[in-house]
Amino acid sequence: MTTGTVTLGPLQHADVPRCREIELELFPGEDPWSENAFHSELNNGHYYLGAYADEELVGYAGLAATPYEASVHTIAVVRHWQGRGVGKMLLRKLLERADEIGVPVFLEVRTDNEPAIAMYLAHGFEHLGLRRRYYQPSGADAYTMGRSAKSV
Ligand SMILES: CC(C)(COP(=O)(O)OP(=O)(O)OC[C@H]1O[C@@H](n2cnc3c(N)ncnc32)[C@H](O)[C@@H]1OP(=O)(O)O)[C@@H](O)C(=O)NCCC(=O)NCCS
Repeated sequence: MTTGTVTLGPLQHADVPRCREIELELFPGEDPWSENAFHSELNNGHYYLGAYADEELVGYAGLAATPYEASVHTIAVVRHWQGRGVGKMLLRKLLERADEIGVPVFLEVRTDNEPAIAMYLAHGFEHLGLRRRYYQPSGADAYTMGRSAKSV
């Protein structure tokens, strides 16, 4: 699957150092994920995708699914690639996976993250609740959002 010169593929352990750099760029005050966190996500068999522009990793996203529900664990696009359709491409692929299993999808998002919230609303999510001080160390609030199960 491609958009412009970006291709999606399974995220690899070899991508993890670059993921960590992207985390530091995008979530400096929000306890960015460690390399170990990414390795365990991959070792746990969760569905992780990388977005590659030529050979360069420019984004990633991960979905954890059970037979009953799925949750978006992360989705991120490097700043210089944002606003060019990569986030949408990653999210749609995660949702395709959830729809293959036929489960609802849940996620948390900072209440001030307007681009992400707009993207989720445009893809069938609705607000379910508010978690005060969900993100640390910033203490920022999160919305929980959900999208109903769809069967393919
Ligand atoms: C959220 C994020 C993944 C979106 O990725 P992206 O590649 O920039 O998004 P896209 O270009 O695919 O746009 C997808 C949709 O997001 C919304 N969007 C993107 N940028 C926006 C902006 N600046 N303002 C409002 N909405 C915006 C729009 O709904 C857009 O759909 P449209 O193009 O049909 O209008 C990206 O901004 C990011 O990595 N942000 C930092 C990390 C983060 O916040 N992750 C989410 C944690 S819950």
